[in-house]
Amino acid sequence: MASEPLLRVRDLGVTFRSGGADTVASSGVTYDLAPGEILAVVGESGSGKSVSALALTRLLPAAPACRVTGSVLLEGEELVGLPEERLAKVRGKRIAYIFQEPGTSMNPVYTIGFQIAEAVKAHRPEVTGADVRRTVEASLDAVGIREPARAADSYPHELSGGMLQRAMIAMALACEPKVLVADEPTTALDVTIQKQIMELLARLRRERGMSILLITHNFGIVANTADNVLVMSQGRVVEQGPVARVMSAPEHPYTRGLIACIPRLGQRRRRLPTLEDHLRESAQA
Ligand SMILES: Nc1ncnc2c1ncn2[C@@H]1O[C@H](COP(=O)(O)OP(=O)(O)OP(=O)(O)O)[C@@H](O)[C@H]1O
Ligand SMILES: [Mg+2]
Repeated sequence: MASEPLLRVRDLGVTFRSGGADTVASSGVTYDLAPGEILAVVGESGSGKSVSALALTRLLPAAPACRVTGSVLLEGEELVGLPEERLAKVRGKRIAYIFQEPGTSMNPVYTIGFQIAEAVKAHRPEVTGADVRRTVEASLDAVGIREPARAADSYPHELSGGMLQRAMIAMALACEPKVLVADEPTTALDVTIQKQIMELLARLRRERGMSILLITHNFGIVANTADNVLVMSQGRVVEQGPVARVMSAPEHPYTRGLIACIPRLGQRRRRLPTLEDHLRESAQA
């Protein structure tokens, strides 16, 4: 029998309201995330990847400016409609996020170690005294930072982009989340560092059985890292399934276009096509 999904998302939708008009940013998003699974979410800019992920723990503007509909079951507990103080306990502790720009997520006026310690104290009250510092250094060590004590005492601007992204991942890991949402975690980094960060995420999943929702523009990263993939366009899921199946036999023309954009040596890079590009191409064909 298949194991119970850790996260069961059904018909998740996000609608923004401004000036009396509704904008549906995403709708009908449905998927399961198993323990230890890496699910990639791909799609063009504005397709609703981030809002769908932020909606899991309602990391979005309050109602009535933003409405979240559908169902998000985390280990059987419904998160949609949960009061804010209960959701705040889920965020960081059970579902942690890492974002594209570590520089904007870390506070520049506090050391890395102080910020990770705050997260640990907020979510793991059982860790106290000198164990907080030990947990901070252990999490920096776990993400491959060679001198964890020194990194802990550094301010964000003192670390390179790759190191800062590792520190962000360490902060997310320090609370031992069940689900890590990685929203374009490598876009701002150069290619070799990108590869190292992706290898780090794959190792963390292997060693800790952590589930990862990996948002990316890059189908190449999907091919190398994820088990399953969800392809979004204009706020909707247009295709989903195991990576091997989707890569070898994509059913939706939009997915085919994304796969055609995987950069290969000696090829010029193409911009990501939009759904309109495909409709135009199929109309011309
Ligand atoms: N706070 C907000 N208020 C109003 N509209 C928003 C807000 N955040 C996102 N949107 C809109 O929701 C839609 C989906 O945005 P989202 O950020 O999820 O896209 P994305 O797929 O993550 O794109 P990218 O690849 O550029 O990060 C977009 O049309 C965006 O303009
Ligand atoms: Mg986004």
